[in-house]
Parts: sequence; structure tokens; C-alpha cells
Amino acid sequence: MTQEPYITTTTTHTIEPTNPDPAIIQHASDVLHAGGLVAFPTETVYGLGANALDETAVAKIFRAKGRPSNDPIIVHIAEVNQLSQIAIDIPDIVSTLTERFWAGALTLVLKRHPNIPLNITAGMESVAVRMPDHLVALALLRQSGLPIGAPSANTFSRPSPTQASHVLDDLDGHVDVVLDGGSTTIGVESTILSLIADVPTVLRPGGVSLEALREVLPDVVYHPKYLAEDVKSAPSPGTLLKHYSPTADVILFRGENSEHVWSAMRAEAQKHNTVGVMTLDNDAHQFDELDVIIARLGRTVDEAALNLFSALRDLDKQGVDVILVRAPDKTGLGLAVWDRLVRASIGQVVEVK
Ligand code: TXA
Ligand code: MG
Repeated sequence: MTQEPYITTTTTHTIEPTNPDPAIIQHASDVLHAGGLVAFPTETVYGLGANALDETAVAKIFRAKGRPSNDPIIVHIAEVNQLSQIAIDIPDIVSTLTERFWAGALTLVLKRHPNIPLNITAGMESVAVRMPDHLVALALLRQSGLPIGAPSANTFSRPSPTQASHVLDDLDGHVDVVLDGGSTTIGVESTILSLIADVPTVLRPGGVSLEALREVLPDVVYHPKYLAEDVKSAPSPGTLLKHYSPTADVILFRGENSEHVWSAMRAEAQKHNTVGVMTLDNDAHQFDELDVIIARLGRTVDEAALNLFSALRDLDKQGVDVILVRAPDKTGLGLAVWDRLVRASIGQVVEVK
């Protein structure tokens, strides 16, 4: 079913990320109460928010993003005690998890409270909820007094936005208000942890590392599944393989032997016309002799997480045919970076011996 796009006039407000102007927050809150859409920064990526209790407003999110209705949306809250209005049968472990990780990049999947409209949860009896660690997001949540439903503020299957300009590139004319609070601080989305499965299960690696989760939940499991096509029964429909894709082809190179990996990447680069390479700063010189566009991801894997989506967008804007990138180690934020790169590459992973 094709849905009608949501068309509106977009107003952007610059807002201080650590000291948000109450008048701007009040205005954004009014827009939410009136059923409009507000894009706002969180510590992970920008969110496209609507009043989570207003089914018609939530429908606008799907229309604005061109998001399929079978992909559920995370509900954001500002206080742990709001949880009882969002979910039922909350397991005891939740208090330990929220004490340790909230506010922060951990989303919990729980049983849906009947208050929560079914279009947010894509018809499921579960609901995803998190408390973002960003003063603009928290101010908006507190001022409005609403739970806010918000997916990443990009159009469907585009890289997530880590800056307000990314939001505007995708959604200008489809969101009422954009709060420009500068760059987000983590750069990859939250970790999604399901607590309704038999064992606690990570559905999407993200801003809270698996190692950190294991300290509290030693039996947590993570089985990456990269589905080739849209499947209704997908445990977390957003874990579909084709996601975060730039227009250019992305090819991921994996291997222990660095020299061999660089050689394989250089050889691949010579097969294409306009080539983009995403690398850590220290590895950029590996491509000095080649006519390629380098996108530097920073010095560490944490910096790479922060710069990843923006680098994909930048290289795309420069019209490269292909983007080459070396796979990170799957530790810490590296696991989330790995996951986003596999999706961006639609599974094109070259194993280098
Ligand atoms: O960091 C984040 O999580 C950002 C910021 C804005 O909070 N949000 C975000 O939302 O990344 P989105 O919609 O782009 O990704 C949310 C993911 C989707 O893959 C969706 O399928 C999954 O969460 N999800 C939502 N509700 C779910 C549920 N009830 N059960 C399983 N997965 C769910
Ligand atoms: Mg998203």
C-alpha cells in the first residue's frame, strides 16, 4: 500500500545542545501537541518525533519517511517512572538496566501497554522504549510531558542523520520543525535489547556495547541475521539487510593480514572510475598513490562510529561509483559499525586471506 507523503513547511531552529532555549523547546512542544513532527538531536542520531499517543501524528512519521508500516518505532521517555504507561509485565532486570544505561543508547523491547497505538509497534504486542541522553531531547520530552515516538530522521533506507543538515537533505518539506543542536555524540543508533524473548536478546548492536551489557546480563545473546529481503516475520524488521544504503556500491574488506587487505582494496579501486575510500586517519596513506576520494573516519573506532553515516553521505554527494572500506574489529562500538557497514554494502564482504 502506498501512503500519501506528509507535506508541510519546515522551520529550522538553532538550539544550544547543552543549554536549550526554553522558548524554542516550548514551540516544538506545541507542535507535538498539535500533532506535528519535530526532528531533534539525541546522543545517537537525530530522531523524527511525534506524540506517541496520537495515532494520526505517528502515521505522519511513516508518511514523511516513506517507511513501511511493518517497521515499528521506538518510544522515547524522560523519566523511568513513565515506563509503566508504555509497557506492562516489566521484568525485574529492567531496573538494573535502566540504572546502569539510562539515560543512554539502550532501547528495551517490552510488552506493549494498551495506551500505545498499534501503528507505533507495527501491530505487535511489544514496544521499544528508551531514554535519550541529550539535553535537547530531554527538554522536549519534559516540556511536552509526552512520550515521543521517533525513528531516525532520514528517509527510509538512507544513512541515519548525525547532523541537522542530513535531516534537511532528506526531509525538508516533510517535517514541521527541525531543532539543530549540532552533531550527535555517538553517531550510531541505540542498542536494541529484547526482554520478551526466552533469553535477553540483542536485536541491533548500537551505542551500548555488547561487552557492557554482558556485565549486567551475562546470558545476553546476539545472533546477527541479515535478511536479503523484507520478511513480515522478521524479529526486528529494521534488521533487514538493505538499510543505511548510500547510492554508491559499498564493498567491505575483511582480513587479518593488513598488507593483503590494503593490496586487495587498491586493486579493487583500480577497477572503478570514481572511487571513495573510508579509512581511519592512520591508514589513509595506504591510498596516497591512487586517484581516490578519501573520507577520514577519525583515529579510533569510536570516532569512526561518529563519522560513519556522514562519510557515507559525503561520498555519495561527490558521486562516487563505489565506496571501499576495511571492516573494523567487532569489539566495543566496532560491532555496531560492522553491522551498519554490512548493511550499507548489502552483504558485499570480500574475505582477504
Ligand atoms: O538511537 C536510536 O535508536 C534512534 C534515536 C532517534 O533514538 N532511533 C532509531 O530508530 O534508530 P529507527 O526507527 O531508525 O530504528 C528502530 C529500530 C527499528 O529497526 C525497528 O524495527 C526496531 O527498532 N523496533 C522498534 N520497535 C520494536 C519492537 N517492538 N520489537 C522489535 N524491534 C523494534
Ligand atoms: Mg533508522
